[in-house]
Amino acid sequence: MQDEYSDLPVILTGDRTTGPLHLGHYAGSLRNRAVLQHTHRQFLLLADLQALTDNAHDPEKVRRNVLEVAFDYLAVGIDPSLTTICVQSALPALSELTMLYMNFVTVARLERNPTIKTEIQVRGFGRDIPAGFLCYPVSQAADITAFKATLVPVGEDQAPLIEQTNEIVRRLNRQVERELLPEAEAMIPKIGRLPGIDGKAKMSKSLGNAIPLSASSDEIRNAVHQMYTDPKHLRAADPGVVEGNVVFTYLDAFCEDVDMVDNLKERYRRGGLGDMVVKRELNDVLQALIAPIRERRARYAADPAYVMSVLKDGTSRARERTQNTLDEVRRALGLFEL
Ligand code: TRP
Repeated sequence: MQDEYSDLPVILTGDRTTGPLHLGHYAGSLRNRAVLQHTHRQFLLLADLQALTDNAHDPEKVRRNVLEVAFDYLAVGIDPSLTTICVQSALPALSELTMLYMNFVTVARLERNPTIKTEIQVRGFGRDIPAGFLCYPVSQAADITAFKATLVPVGEDQAPLIEQTNEIVRRLNRQVERELLPEAEAMIPKIGRLPGIDGKAKMSKSLGNAIPLSASSDEIRNAVHQMYTDPKHLRAADPGVVEGNVVFTYLDAFCEDVDMVDNLKERYRRGGLGDMVVKRELNDVLQALIAPIRERRARYAADPAYVMSVLKDGTSRARERTQNTLDEVRRALGLFEL
C-alpha cells in the first residue's frame, strides 16, 4: 500500500458514470492507468456529479453506473492497493471548492471553452444549457486541484479543461499571493481516439458503435463482422486502402505482432487479401484481449459487497486528502472561521 504522503507524482483522472466502459476507453486510457499506478500516486474519480450535469433527467442511470464503471476498473487490472478509487458525490470538499472557484472564472470564458462549445452543440442545448453543465469545467478544476494532481491523463478533447483549470489555479494563487495550488499537465495518449466500428470518429455507447468490455464472444464476432473497411474494396483481388479502415486501425491499437500487421497491410494494399481474412485476425486478437477482462468483470459483478468496500475505503482516504486542500484554500482566502 502506497502511503498518502509518498512523493510520487500525483495523477487524477476520472470517468462520468453514464454507462459501462468500452474498448475506446480501454485503448485511450484504461490500459495506461493499469501501468501508471506502479509509478505514480493514482486517484480515479467516479464522476457521478459531473455525469448529472447533462443527465439530471435520469439520476438513476448515473447512480447505477457508479458500480458498473468500478467493475470495469477492477476488471482491467486497476489494483485498489495501488490506485485510490473514489466517488465524486461522496466528497463534499469538491463541491465546496467548486463554489469558491466559481468566483475566479467568468461566464464568457466558460462559454468560450472549446470542449464545452462542442458539447453544447452535440447535445443541442442551444441557450437552454443547464448552469451545472456550463460550470462543469470549474468542478473539474476542483477535482484536479483538491487532489493536488500534477498529471491528468485525458483524451485530446479534454485538453481545454486542463487549461481552464490552470487559469483558475493562477488566478487563485495570484489572489492569495503564493503558490497555494500546483498547475497540472494533461497527459494525452499518443495513439489517437479509437473510432467506432462504423468508422465514425468516436466510439460511443449512445451511437451504437461500441464494443463494451463485457462483450460476449458472439458480440465481439458480430462487431468485427460488421466493421467498416474500405467501401471500394469489393473483391479480394482488388487493391484496398488501409488508412481509415477500421479493421486495420484496431489491429494497430491492439495487436502486439506489429510485423504480422505490416505484412497484412502490404498484401491488402497490393490486392489479393480479402476483408474476411483480416477480420478473422482481428477477431482472434479481440477475443484474446477481452475474454479475461470479461471473466474478471463477471467475478466482481457477482461480488458487489467487495466492490462497495473498495469504494468506501478509497473514498474515505480521498475525503481526507480533498478536505485538507479545501481547508488550505479557505484559510488562504481568509474565510470566516467559527
Ligand atoms: N470529464 C471527464 C470525462 O468526461 C471525467 C472527469 C471528471 C475527469 N473529473 C475529472 C477527468 C478530473 C480528469 C480529471 O470523462
